[in-house]
Amino acid sequence: MSGSTIVLKTEEEISYIRKSSLLVGKTLAEVARNLKPGISTDRLDAIAETFIRDHGALPSFKGYHGYKHTLCISVNEEIVHGIPGARIIAEGDVVSIDCGVYMNGFHGDSAYTFPIGLVDVATIMLLQVTKTALYKGIAKAKSGNRIGDISAAVQEYSESHGYGVVRELVGHGVGRNLHERPEVPNYGKKGSGPVLRPGMTLAIEPMINLGSRQIRQLKDGWTVITQDRKPSAHFEHTIAVTESEPEILSSFDEIELAITENEYIKESISILN
Ligand code: MF3
Ligand code: CO
Repeated sequence: MSGSTIVLKTEEEISYIRKSSLLVGKTLAEVARNLKPGISTDRLDAIAETFIRDHGALPSFKGYHGYKHTLCISVNEEIVHGIPGARIIAEGDVVSIDCGVYMNGFHGDSAYTFPIGLVDVATIMLLQVTKTALYKGIAKAKSGNRIGDISAAVQEYSESHGYGVVRELVGHGVGRNLHERPEVPNYGKKGSGPVLRPGMTLAIEPMINLGSRQIRQLKDGWTVITQDRKPSAHFEHTIAVTESEPEILSSFDEIELAITENEYIKESISILN
């Protein structure tokens, strides 16, 4: 995390964070259109990087603490920070794709988890609950509430389904830096932590495991996996705290449109509706 104080953004600064965040959504939609069994994760990464640069922006993750890629692609038991490479996406995989975009001096950060082909129902449920947990957290991101209200909402909803809530990795402030204060844990106590104020911009990102919350870090220095090797899901939005309701600056709309047009993804998603 950069600095020690929470940076409040002006309306104009928020509009730049919105632009970057919306480009993340468009990028993830472009990736979703190409996501099918047989494609490699480094091909998906190249598609995302080209798309971002073609829109006059830069990939936020590339160069961040020595990270060399545009996306984090985390498959099945990988929770987050999976490194793109030669791995081929296969039917039955669940694929979390995390992307950041830097434009006009501001970052946007968002992630979505996709089922490929037929995925077992328990795992589809995990995806649905993790996405809903994200929205339960966002609903608490109101001026006068505290960070712990977001955290508790995510934790309570996820644990009520028996899932493991990852604790070692957290959401964060986002703005001129990809990671700013405050930390946004996915577990915690209502009424605890920093008070939320208009102008705070946060990346809220539950990482929820089908099994236990315990993690392992791979020797590649990045990839985080579940200790029990059961699947994990990850959804992330960049949001702004306002005088009234929380504003979601990123968007899943184009991603979900792309899903309905992708024969490999839509079949599992249709189970949910
Ligand atoms: N997107 C991650 C997050 O949500 C950070 C990725 S780490 C990086 O906070 F090195 F890949 F950038
Ligand atoms: Co993030």
